[in-house]
Amino acid sequence: MKKLIEWISEEVAKAFKKAGYDSYYGRITVSNRPDLCEYQCNGAIAAQKAYQKASFLIAEDVAEVMDSSEVCEKVTVMKPGFINIKVSKQFLVEYLQQMYKDARLSSDLSSDPKSIIVDYGGPNVAKPLHVGHLRSAIIGESLKRIGRFLGHRIIGDVHLGDWGLQMGLIIIELKERKPELVYFDESFAGEYPLESPFTISELEEIYLAASIKSKKDEDYRERALVATRELQENRRGYMALWNHIMTISVNDLKKTYKKLNVEFDLWKKESDAQPYIPEMIQRMKEGGYAYEDQGALVVDVKKETDVNEIPPCIVLKSDGASLYTTTDLATLIARIKQFHPDEILYVVDKRQELHFIQIFRCAWKTGLVKPDTKLSFLGFGTMNGKDGKPFKTREGGVMRLENLIRDIDQTMYRKIMKNKNVKDTDAEKIAEMVGLSAIKYGDLSHQISRDYVFDIERFTSFEGNTGPYILYTIVRIKSILTRYVKEGGSLQENILMPATSDSEKGLMLKTARFNSVVDNAFEEKAPHKVCFYIYELSNDFNCFYHKTKILTEENSEQKASWILLLDLVRRVLEECIELLGFSAPERM
Ligand code: ARG
Repeated sequence: MKKLIEWISEEVAKAFKKAGYDSYYGRITVSNRPDLCEYQCNGAIAAQKAYQKASFLIAEDVAEVMDSSEVCEKVTVMKPGFINIKVSKQFLVEYLQQMYKDARLSSDLSSDPKSIIVDYGGPNVAKPLHVGHLRSAIIGESLKRIGRFLGHRIIGDVHLGDWGLQMGLIIIELKERKPELVYFDESFAGEYPLESPFTISELEEIYLAASIKSKKDEDYRERALVATRELQENRRGYMALWNHIMTISVNDLKKTYKKLNVEFDLWKKESDAQPYIPEMIQRMKEGGYAYEDQGALVVDVKKETDVNEIPPCIVLKSDGASLYTTTDLATLIARIKQFHPDEILYVVDKRQELHFIQIFRCAWKTGLVKPDTKLSFLGFGTMNGKDGKPFKTREGGVMRLENLIRDIDQTMYRKIMKNKNVKDTDAEKIAEMVGLSAIKYGDLSHQISRDYVFDIERFTSFEGNTGPYILYTIVRIKSILTRYVKEGGSLQENILMPATSDSEKGLMLKTARFNSVVDNAFEEKAPHKVCFYIYELSNDFNCFYHKTKILTEENSEQKASWILLLDLVRRVLEECIELLGFSAPERM
């Protein structure tokens, strides 16, 4: 359905034409002075030069024509030549009534749907999920949902890190501790045990110990590098260990992602790219792209226009082992072959930007992907603690994601119990829902590329620009609707009546903007725009609610109209939080 702003824009364009000017000048924007008007057009000012006529006079000509429009209620001209527009209340009501009837709330499916792979999450097996992986999961999930809502074919891939040095580290640390294990016996030709030699917590402890040792002990690190390469060459015993690590880690990861309401279509991993590596390397050599530099194989990717020096992309290490770059490049081959995507979008820490510039350029240059396949990097900033440094535990260690979620849920539980609106038995479940809104909204309401401070107190507050505030607003609306129905009212066949107050009209106008906001959020890959929108919509609702006695209204048609508006606002809010990746309870 046509957007409200498009209706008005067309009206203004028509008026420019009718008054004898080019319709091009009819572009409008949402007013930034809501006290004066709702939409505004600055076209007359731009037209002044072309028509050699004072912009005020041009604006007056246009306003005069517009006075008869059904879409606009009032058009005024302000010096030097602004055209200020108020939307017709009747037109607005008709627009919203249509929106109410539409399951998609007047948001059109894309006319040009794309196939997009979203690479997000990016956890590494055997390492616990920590807060650094939180942002990728939350942002990627939201973009996946928004894109899908708009009709794009979105494929979410977790792209597990399973082929790097951490695997070699685990292997040699395990060997030091339990050299007798059959996995290390090179002459062993039988079947390996089905049961894993470690649990998830043992595995994490082994990795941590190995990682610390490798930083101090050159020889130890060297052995880990060799083990990594041997694993990549499919040494049998190591592959069997790798299998155990994978099974255990993936199970654990799935549990945490479930808590976060994050779901991947594909559980692909770096190692899935291994079969494509030899041929890729050969092609790069034959094509004359790759050359040896200090033993390693590299491809030049710099351009004359670069402001900063972009170093060559190392595609293979000197010992022939593959690197992060190698698997990312070969993964592109696999993805193109399987899915023929129009775009691949990487949601990764912005500190990895250089890596992606290198692999994108290398992939286009060497013909791994066609020039019209879009490769995009969406780099996010760091989640900091109140001290402005990357978020840590109180003891200064890396915060496990699980613990962070638990802390938030407990804070929420205490707050909810204080309110005493819910039964104890429900409180835990509700605390989880509200807790998730605190974490996700806290993250998504910030511009993606910016660092932000994860402030538990602020994020869990029921007031201000927070997830719990949005949920609280939804719950408030739901309880009004329930009471209305209990008192004999029905939500069916209500008719919306024109706004009777400024606060009601403000709420209506904001509600009507849903389709514009969602389109824009996807286009700019900016879920924070959805957050900002629902924050404003919630404020507008609460303002209207405080000024209007809804349930005690005696005119039953008026009451039914307000109820319809509330139900529409609720649906918009619930659709938006679904797009952000969380949901609202019935009460809280
Ligand atoms: N595992 C990586 C990390 O923890 C992130 C992976 C991002 N995706 C990719 N295709 N490189 O840093």
